[in-house]
Amino acid sequence: MANSPDALRPIIVRTVKQLRGHTGQWRRAGQTIGLVPTMGALHDGHISLAQIAKDNADRLIVSIFVNSKQFSPHEDFDRYPREQDADVAKLAAVQADLVFLPSADEMYGEGFATTIHVDDLTRDLCAATRPRLFDGVTTIVTKLLLQTTPDIAVFGEKDYQQLLVIRRLVRDLDIAVTILSGPTKREPDGLAISSRNQYLTPEQRGVAAQLNRILRDTADEIAQGSGIAAQVALAKSKLTGIGFDGMDYLEVRDADTLEPIDRLERPARILGAVWLGTTRLIDNREILPSKSGGDPLV
Ligand code: PAF
Repeated sequence: MANSPDALRPIIVRTVKQLRGHTGQWRRAGQTIGLVPTMGALHDGHISLAQIAKDNADRLIVSIFVNSKQFSPHEDFDRYPREQDADVAKLAAVQADLVFLPSADEMYGEGFATTIHVDDLTRDLCAATRPRLFDGVTTIVTKLLLQTTPDIAVFGEKDYQQLLVIRRLVRDLDIAVTILSGPTKREPDGLAISSRNQYLTPEQRGVAAQLNRILRDTADEIAQGSGIAAQVALAKSKLTGIGFDGMDYLEVRDADTLEPIDRLERPARILGAVWLGTTRLIDNREILPSKSGGDPLV
C-alpha cells in the first residue's frame, strides 16, 4: 500500500529526551538503528550515506547540527549553509525515519567541559591548519553515538582522515556501533560534492574539478610504479599552475595509519587540501599496490 507523502515525512525531534523516546520504542520492537551524522546543507553525498544506513538498519536517523566546536575562530562557522527546510524535504524523499535537530544549548549545555581527543591520527594533515577540527568532531560524534545508540553509523570517505579518527575513537572507547563508510560522490566533472562547493564563483568552480583529476592521475602513476616523492612534487606544481590559490597539504599516506610513506607496499591514499579564494577544498584517492608488484626474484 502506498504511503501518503505526509506519512513519509520524518519525525523531527530537537531534544535528547524526545530522541530516546523514539529509539527506545524501536529497540523494544527489535528494530536496528542506523545513524548518519551531518551538519546539514544536504547533497547527494549525504543522501548516498543515508541510503547505506537504510540498507543496513531498520530505522534511519539523520542528525543535523552545525557543530561550533569543530570550527576555529577564523573558519566559516557563521557562513556555513543552513538549509533546514530543504534538508528535511530531501530526507523525506529518502524516507528517513527521524531527523535530530538539536540546538546548541541542547548539545552543549551551560558548563559543558568535556572534550574527546584521539591522538596520532590527528597530528597533522587537516589538523595542522584546523586545530579545533578533530576534537570538535570526536566530541560531537561521541555524544551523537551515546544519544542515539545506533547499530551502525555511516561516514563519507571524502573526509578520509575524519573517518579513520572516528573508527579509532569507536575502537578505543569500545562503543558498540559498526562504522560504515560511503565512497565520495562526485559531480560529472569529478569535483567531490561538498556543502562548501556553493561558495565557489563560476570561475573557481572551473578550476576546482582539477583537484580530483590531478589526484587521480598522480594516484594512477604511483600505482604503476612511479616514485611517490617525484609524483607528489609534480602534482603540487600542477595545482599551483592551474590556478589554486594555496595548498595546505598534498601527501601520500598509509591508508590505515596515515603515516607518511615513500614506497607503495600497502594500500595508500593521496590526500589534498587546497584553497580557491576563501574556500578550502579537500579530496583523496585510494592507491593500491599492483598485485603483481614487487621483485619477482625475491
Ligand atoms: O562530516 C561532517 O559533516 C561533520 O564533521 C560531522 C561528522 C557531522 C560532525 O559534526
